[in-house]
Amino acid sequence: MADSPVSHHSPESPPDQEANSNQRAQMEQAYQQMQRKMRMSKMSETIKHKIMVLSGKGGVGKTTVATGIALSLAKMGKKVGLMDIDITGPNVPKMMGLEGTELHIEDGQIFPAIGPHGIKVISMAFLIEDPDKPVIWRGPIKLGAIQQFIGDVAWGDLDALVIDFPPGTGDEPLTVSQTLPNLDGVVIVTTPQEVALLDSRKSINFAKTISVPVLGVVENMSGYKLSGVASPSAEFSITGPNGVPISIIASEDGAWSTTLDLFKFGGGEESAQDLEVPFLGRLPFDPGVVRGGDDGVHRIVADPNGETARAFGDVVENILNSLENRNSHNVKIT
Ligand SMILES: Nc1ncnc2c1ncn2[C@@H]1O[C@H](COP(=O)(O)OP(=O)(O)O)[C@@H](O)[C@H]1O
Ligand SMILES: [Mg+2]
Repeated sequence: MADSPVSHHSPESPPDQEANSNQRAQMEQAYQQMQRKMRMSKMSETIKHKIMVLSGKGGVGKTTVATGIALSLAKMGKKVGLMDIDITGPNVPKMMGLEGTELHIEDGQIFPAIGPHGIKVISMAFLIEDPDKPVIWRGPIKLGAIQQFIGDVAWGDLDALVIDFPPGTGDEPLTVSQTLPNLDGVVIVTTPQEVALLDSRKSINFAKTISVPVLGVVENMSGYKLSGVASPSAEFSITGPNGVPISIIASEDGAWSTTLDLFKFGGGEESAQDLEVPFLGRLPFDPGVVRGGDDGVHRIVADPNGETARAFGDVVENILNSLENRNSHNVKIT
């Protein structure tokens, strides 16, 4: 930070010498800002796709989905960056097994931490000394921090940069959309119940207001799969959510499975259709996701061929399709 231009003179530093050093500090700051701007404008070439992950509500699994999208893309062999803009509750390092990492800073550039599959991760959590202490950012400082975050990180060449946000449509996505050139679009995460869906409609409208295309809606915690073995071709009934009976017929070898819709079924797809944006797919409710988040080993890393990892693979395929369509049709939603 530059000294205040109205600082007091000390007898050891004559006024004109102090004025000189103030001037030098101001010039240095201007130079740094210029370099940051140049780096940011280059990011449209060096980072192929920039994807924001938003949700209307907290707790719907936005960070789980942002980290999952990044991991699935990286598993496909893409060069991926992951930026955690959730300044007050940054959870990305924990989910990526990078808690407590110290970042390397050189020549005014911040070098990201390296997560599973070589993902480059940057999070405000890396810069906070005591993660248990809430950080209160005053408006302009927060915005400055975000801009610095974007412009001062040595991302290198990337196929995709995935950006996680705090819940809602606050200053953070707005600032990123104004700072980062050529954003590709927004992925909206929702759970199937009405309240979450209503909020995701707000996110879709927000994306339209800031002229960033909506790549689509992901429905998270969409259903819980139960499976078991019974007598061959057995017919029986179990009690589902709200006491509703679910009838089951086992296969010839006795295997059976059913999906419990813990909240409701299909709400995400319905609201995507209503709002004329693509539906990117469903991710199952999976207790392994909770364990993974707590242990710092993402479900996709712990169980790369499991149902959740496969569902993420489908979502990412749809995102890539959405990106391709966007490029070929050059759609811009305003
Ligand atoms: N598909 C899922 N199945 C089970 N638990 C999930 C799933 N997605 C997220 N969770 C859990 O829900 C909680 C909130 O998820 P998180 O990604 O932090 O949400 P957000 O970033 O929207 O606040 C976490 O404990 C996470 O492990
Ligand atoms: Mg989060």
